[in-house]
Amino acid sequence: MASTVIKNWDNKTWLSSQNYINSFNNFLIKNTKINSNFKILDIGCGRGKILGSLSSRLNLKYKPLGIDIINHKDRDKRINFKRVNILDLSLRKSQKFDLILIKQTIHLIKLSEVKKLLKSLVKILNTKGKILIFTLDTTNNEIPTFKLMKFKLNKSLSRDKKILKTITNLYPRRIKKKFIFKVKISKKKYIEMIESRYISTLIPLSKKQINQGIQEIKLSYKNQLKFKDKLNCIIL
Ligand SMILES: C[S@@+](CC[C@H](N)C(=O)[O-])C[C@H]1O[C@@H](n2cnc3c(N)ncnc32)[C@H](O)[C@@H]1O
Repeated sequence: MASTVIKNWDNKTWLSSQNYINSFNNFLIKNTKINSNFKILDIGCGRGKILGSLSSRLNLKYKPLGIDIINHKDRDKRINFKRVNILDLSLRKSQKFDLILIKQTIHLIKLSEVKKLLKSLVKILNTKGKILIFTLDTTNNEIPTFKLMKFKLNKSLSRDKKILKTITNLYPRRIKKKFIFKVKISKKKYIEMIESRYISTLIPLSKKQINQGIQEIKLSYKNQLKFKDKLNCIIL
């Protein structure tokens, strides 16, 4: 696992807005036919707001289980939470799930580990259970970037492509979907997100590189940023 520590991904960004959470959960409901008896596991759950909201909306009988290496103080209390590296967790076959969600987390795991992880996750799925893996769109990505950020992002996206290819080879019957969310955000707010290194590609950059990037963003974007946050979804 990369030693990346992502703390500000869903810290008051569009990714934690009720609008985003609702449309993401609409997508989940449409594609998995979730009902109130579903047992759900979220790997790399962050603050757990997505499944917390889903749990209230569907009145889930069982609290979803979220796993993350970081335990945020403002984590959603409607989910059960385990602070652990998923790669260190021995997944007991006795605890089975109807839906396993891996949203924007698989790129932080080594390819060789991804294979092992998926094989062990398939074993803890109920008969009609599904695994949903979301990654950033690898071809028509619209995330606003500065030069160095784009370079790093493209590197990460080509890794994602490899991961998706590996998953397709392992599970040729997988289904592919896209989740698209229209983002409207002020340049000021987006710059704050860059300052707080909201995305993993920004974590290793120096303060100087971040500041240079912010200057580039200031010059090359209008006061309102409008773009589509597009995700690939693989259903196993
Ligand atoms: C980009 S965030 C995505 C958060 C959330 N799934 C979402 O989409 O809003 C990735 C999350 O995965 C967690 N993570 C990374 N590697 C992990 C691992 N090996 N085991 C558990 N969690 C991990 C990070 O701490 C972070 O919260």
